[in-house]
Amino acid sequence: MKSLTSNPQSSIRHPHATVVEVQNLVYTYANQEPILRDISFKLKAGDRVALMGATGSGKSTLLENLIGLKQPHSGQIWINGIPVEHKTLSQVRRQIGFSFQDANDQLFMPTILEDVTFGPRNYGVSPALANDRAHQLLADFGLEAYANRSAHQLSGGQRRLVALAAILALEPEILILDEPTNGLDPAWRRHLAQVLLNLPVKVILIASHDLNWLGKVTQRALVLANGRIPIDKDIQPLLQDGNTLDKLGLPVDW
Ligand SMILES: Nc1ncnc2c1ncn2[C@@H]1O[C@H](COP(=O)(O)OP(=O)(O)OP(=O)(O)O)[C@@H](O)[C@H]1O
Ligand SMILES: [Mg+2]
Repeated sequence: MKSLTSNPQSSIRHPHATVVEVQNLVYTYANQEPILRDISFKLKAGDRVALMGATGSGKSTLLENLIGLKQPHSGQIWINGIPVEHKTLSQVRRQIGFSFQDANDQLFMPTILEDVTFGPRNYGVSPALANDRAHQLLADFGLEAYANRSAHQLSGGQRRLVALAAILALEPEILILDEPTNGLDPAWRRHLAQVLLNLPVKVILIASHDLNWLGKVTQRALVLANGRIPIDKDIQPLLQDGNTLDKLGLPVDW
């Protein structure tokens, strides 16, 4: 597959500028104890970050807060300095490519080609350019032959790849992926890692249980536990530290 860009650093104008900032975020589902109790962190230009945490720890909830799909009970989120609130949502979302944990939440057009052109067309990209970009991405993900099928006629792993192609078609500055390797075989997981490592994005934040894969595509790990982030450190030493992973509910996989 071709590299999607020749210069991964090209869009990073201010190498250490804060791109995502979260301060004292609290999130509560209706009539429940808070799922997110006190979350604060900063992601800077160039950061590739893993969001780890046991099943049900609140990873998807946190990611959905970041893109304004859920509103925090208290606390504040800024994306490129813009506070995430009702009146800034379209401006904020324009900068973020977000993939849902369930690819089915994202694919709704009659054909997968249209799923991949939908976002760019919505943002005013010409039909010809949107089509070219979509065909290239579908080819990169081995899906060119399925371009005129609907997503529900594909396998689970293929749907996952279409959902990722649809996000990459937006050429976002900030990429937020919720369990992107779900349903992918080792060859496609490896390929996806290559694609992500070559993208010219400012920040990547990935929630996943695929710890070894995270170790290939990210440098820093945030671990969510008990509604907080007790660990924010380089991912490699953390992956070597079985005791800490055990205590955080992240035992080494069998
Ligand atoms: N709509 C909802 N209403 C009430 N509680 C919810 C809702 N959605 C999720 N939860 C609860 O919030 C908690 C966090 O869920 P979330 O999906 O964010 O976890 P997660 O870390 O993404 O888990 P996984 O690893 O399984 O994807 C869970 O305990 C879940 O039961
Ligand atoms: Mg989740």
